[in-house]
Amino acid sequence: MSAATSRFLITGSMGCIGAWVLRNLLDDGAHIVATDLSIPDDKSTTRPGLLLDNDELARVHWQSLDVTDANAVNSLVSEHKPTHIVHLAGLQIPFCKADPTMGAMVNVVGTVNVFEAARNNNVRGLTYASSVGVLGAPELYPDRALTDADLPMPNNLYGVYKMANENTAKVYWQDWQVGSVGLRPYVVYGAGRDQGMTADLAKACLAVAAGKPFHIRFDGPVTVQHANDVARIFIDSASVEYQGAGVFNLRNDVIEVAEFVALVKELYPDANITFEQNNPLPFPADFDDAGIQGVLQRVAHTPLKKAITSDVEHFTQLLNSGRLTTESLNS
Ligand SMILES: NC(=O)c1ccc[n+]([C@@H]2O[C@H](COP(=O)([O-])OP(=O)(O)OC[C@H]3O[C@@H](n4cnc5c(N)ncnc54)[C@H](O)[C@@H]3O)[C@@H](O)[C@H]2O)c1
Repeated sequence: MSAATSRFLITGSMGCIGAWVLRNLLDDGAHIVATDLSIPDDKSTTRPGLLLDNDELARVHWQSLDVTDANAVNSLVSEHKPTHIVHLAGLQIPFCKADPTMGAMVNVVGTVNVFEAARNNNVRGLTYASSVGVLGAPELYPDRALTDADLPMPNNLYGVYKMANENTAKVYWQDWQVGSVGLRPYVVYGAGRDQGMTADLAKACLAVAAGKPFHIRFDGPVTVQHANDVARIFIDSASVEYQGAGVFNLRNDVIEVAEFVALVKELYPDANITFEQNNPLPFPADFDDAGIQGVLQRVAHTPLKKAITSDVEHFTQLLNSGRLTTESLNS
């Protein structure tokens, strides 16, 4: 099915990855139903507003949707009959910790509701966001790039809920042949990444554009993916209409934070970016993405240097046009 004849429904469209999914789908010419918990009238300062101009924002069909409401999810899917769904709505690690019941409602029940709606309405392709958060502490794993087959051993509720999503997908395939692809991003960077510690690489690029100092709060080796590439991989994975319940690691770049900072300084000698020493993230660092490479003809991957320069340029434009402030650097 060509992109132009596809109808995509996105959950979590106001989020970082959601915004980049919209950018890519508009470029593809797909029909888009973009949903999130609430949709403001003025979208110019939302995350999609960082990537879409006002005409493009107006071309998207926006619809508020709470994924915890099973009837609302099913009604919307049955009304719009999407051929494909990209399910990104979710609460991140700190929010699941602060409110475990709400975390489970959104991340677990919300995902069941999306699968149920896909089953009832014969959706052809479904991708959903899992996470490297399904894995446990690095010392639990062998010292090599982890494959899709390495055992999930989550040590926080977010990871437990994402693991429930992966197992939900397996049962929907086994019992009702609802095919899906679950993807496990790690440190996603790019415009729109503004919350949580792992947003610090994106914030560092914003700081460079603004001529401000910035301190990245972690170090060590990490797997990083640009949000534009992640969005493309979500769309492409839905478009292949996968027959099974695939769960795949993403890789793209594995770097030391020190290398990232050195690269930024090489590109922008005046940049004042530092990082916290001896404070690695509590997840394994390196992933083998042979699984997703086997599913897609090409896994989107922007080289790091190119991604950093285009992000700094993009942030500069956004700051100059007033669509973005440096407020997120302080949180
Ligand atoms: N960004 C990363 O580094 C990363 C890494 C691994 C996994 N993920 C997963 O990818 C997905 C998207 O990530 P993101 O960075 O775009 O997240 P984000 O936090 O920027 O966006 C999530 C969106 O979900 C929406 N949402 C929350 N509750 C909802 C509800 N009840 N109904 C409908 N929408 C609701 C929020 O309003 C928000 O717009 C998430 O599921 C996240 O867990 C992200």
